Amino acid sequence: MDSIVVTGGNTLNGTIPISGAKNATLPLMIASMLTEEPLVLENVPELADVNSLSRILANHGVDYRVEGKKRESNGLAGRTIHFFADEIVDTTAPYELVSKMRASFWVIGPLLARMGKARVSLPGGCAIGTRPVDLFIESLRAMGAEIDVEAGYVTANAPGGLKGAQYRFPKVSVGATHVAMMAATLAKGTTVLENAAREPEVTDLAQCLVGMGARISGAGTSTISIEGVDSLHGYRHAVLPDRIETGTFAMAVAMTGGDVLLKGAQAGLLENALDVLVQTGVTIEQKNEGIRVARNGAGIRAVDVTTDPFPGFPTDLQAQFMALMTKADGVSNIRETIFENRFMHVQELARLGADIKVDGNNARVTGVRKLTGAPVMATDLRASVSLVIAGLAAEGDTTVNRVYHLDRGFERLEEKLSACGASIKRISA
Ligand code: EPZ
Repeated sequence: MDSIVVTGGNTLNGTIPISGAKNATLPLMIASMLTEEPLVLENVPELADVNSLSRILANHGVDYRVEGKKRESNGLAGRTIHFFADEIVDTTAPYELVSKMRASFWVIGPLLARMGKARVSLPGGCAIGTRPVDLFIESLRAMGAEIDVEAGYVTANAPGGLKGAQYRFPKVSVGATHVAMMAATLAKGTTVLENAAREPEVTDLAQCLVGMGARISGAGTSTISIEGVDSLHGYRHAVLPDRIETGTFAMAVAMTGGDVLLKGAQAGLLENALDVLVQTGVTIEQKNEGIRVARNGAGIRAVDVTTDPFPGFPTDLQAQFMALMTKADGVSNIRETIFENRFMHVQELARLGADIKVDGNNARVTGVRKLTGAPVMATDLRASVSLVIAGLAAEGDTTVNRVYHLDRGFERLEEKLSACGASIKRISA
């Protein structure tokens, strides 16, 4: 298994290109199943999760073709991938595939909408929390689907097609909003989703669906209306820039000091997180080409944060922010409200010398003067990258094991950081 070795102490200076968003790409790929015509996605990041989902979709009959040259010559430009779902050959998503990636459960929406049936394995446990699927089931039931959960599978049928409905999510869910919105595009009548997720990735999916012929309004607000149509058609859509990758690199610069242009990044996608960074003492500037992040010799101020659905502080940046706060002047209280078990990085950060006390969903981080490199290991994607950030500011070598977590969601992380002066290398086992 590969590992990454970071030797701390260098500031970051230069330009980092921001890739297309993983969490927009995945639902967009799944949306290709809604039409017999090709869906072409541009700015697709080269990530393990994208490759896994391509294979999962292929099991349902979705062919795909990567446009243009090979990876090496494409650089970091983002790939263009054509998805062809002219025939859905299988409406079952088996356990072996769904258990590899939770988001593949989301195929239930397009399968049910287009084929009138779906049998999808429950995704099972996950390191960051229990992550149930009740909101998916209830919203699809509201649209007339008959759903049974048995023997680890969700079986859904809508022989006469789905029907428009009014549904209020009792809790904000990104995935359930994606799925209900996709399903409603082909339902008879109008669906109104209330308390919907407002994440930019939901808006990106809605824009693509509208390009495919769907009638959607309100995406990006908590009430989304979808007027069902008979069929959707092909479209070409560019994936929006990854706000979590943007925030991650911004925090890395905050941690090491330096001056970096995050090329292609859009400040509007992560207002709250950037406001918090400014409060820590970082300079943030939106330029035409992207966001400039800089911190000179001044110390890092401690700031409290609470994770929340968009537009609040994203849970996907909580671990990275905690890494930053380990070196702040003072005490920061970090509260995680989205997932019940998303503090797995705490013990690993402690191995580097961080002072963090966890009490339920609160972490109290007292900044220390010095972190010291050590071997560390993480159990999820964002936790892994938080250890890289800490390693950039630690004395000596930090070896991050289980790099496959990083490869799921960060495109060429070590290449992007080393281009800005970080001492970071991958060791292949
Ligand atoms: C998406 O997960 C993201 N994944 C996650 O990013 C992100 O952390 C999360 O949204 C929150 O922003 C993708 O987009 C692929 P949710 P999702 O449904 O949709 C509960 C990363 O690192 N819930 O919004 O699965 C759930 O347990 C990943 O890139 C129910 O109770 O998250 C959680 O507490 C990790 N019942 C809360 O809602 C349900 O039926 C929010 O989860 C569904 C969810």
